[in-house]
Amino acid sequence: MKKPGRNDLCWCGSGKKYKKCHMEQDARLFEYEKEGFTIPSFDLIKTPEQIEGVRKSGIVTNEILDIVAERIKEGVTTNEIDDWVREHTAKRGAIAAPLNYFGYPKSVCTSINDVICHGIPDNTVLKSGDIINIDVSTILDGYYSDASRMFIIGEASENAVKLVEETKKAMYIGIDAVKPYGSLNAVGTAIENYCNKLGYSVVRDLGGHGVGLKFHEEPHVDHFAKDGKGVLLLPGMVFTVEPMINEGDYKCITLDDDWTVLTKDGSLSAQWEHTIVVTENGTEILV
Ligand code: MF3
Ligand code: CO
Repeated sequence: MKKPGRNDLCWCGSGKKYKKCHMEQDARLFEYEKEGFTIPSFDLIKTPEQIEGVRKSGIVTNEILDIVAERIKEGVTTNEIDDWVREHTAKRGAIAAPLNYFGYPKSVCTSINDVICHGIPDNTVLKSGDIINIDVSTILDGYYSDASRMFIIGEASENAVKLVEETKKAMYIGIDAVKPYGSLNAVGTAIENYCNKLGYSVVRDLGGHGVGLKFHEEPHVDHFAKDGKGVLLLPGMVFTVEPMINEGDYKCITLDDDWTVLTKDGSLSAQWEHTIVVTENGTEILV
């Protein structure tokens, strides 16, 4: 981080001199930097208007997940789920962020059983016993939101149901570890400690991410334990917490479609995702 001069214009765009604006507040940050934290780029700190934009986008994402929750059942194809997502997104004047994202061919990700993430909707028919992650990402008025939930189709095995429930708990444990002026590394440490005790493993190759003005922004959010102070969490940062938890080994393979990520050992995988904002007192879930 480069320190502006006292009489330079403040980095925040207020038009005020630095000394009359963020200088004092930033002095605190230089202390954190000395302690070993990585100070995030200031443009990751969203304004209240931007946060409101993500929140509104999140309302559409949540509506879509609610529609999926109402309709999903045995016999439905993942292509039908893609239709529901596309139709509701259009109805709300929004854009499905996945469609054409680096060539991704559909409007939603549908990841069944041993698929960790980025499953592409197709003619696969959902059957009783499946567990499936539905990952919805919406752009509304230029603002991105990202959330996912697991669904259990019909009667699933006890261990599958447990994995789904514990992964949801792990996500909330990760979110609870987010503290203003705390470390981003606390998220992964909390999640991995919880999951390892259950004999599960945390996927390492994929993580959460900043979100809001783009689909994937800094910082990258690892869901496993890491040493060091890591990225300093500042009020106004918006990012996802979206642990992918495997019943077996954490290792992944990617199919020839270049998207579908599966567990290497064929074990079940679950994922839940929220988009959150760091506040002065803790966090708020935006969607
Ligand atoms: N929604 C995913 C995430 O949580 C990203 C999907 S990228 C896509 O980060 F292209 F597959 F949609
Ligand atoms: Co995400």
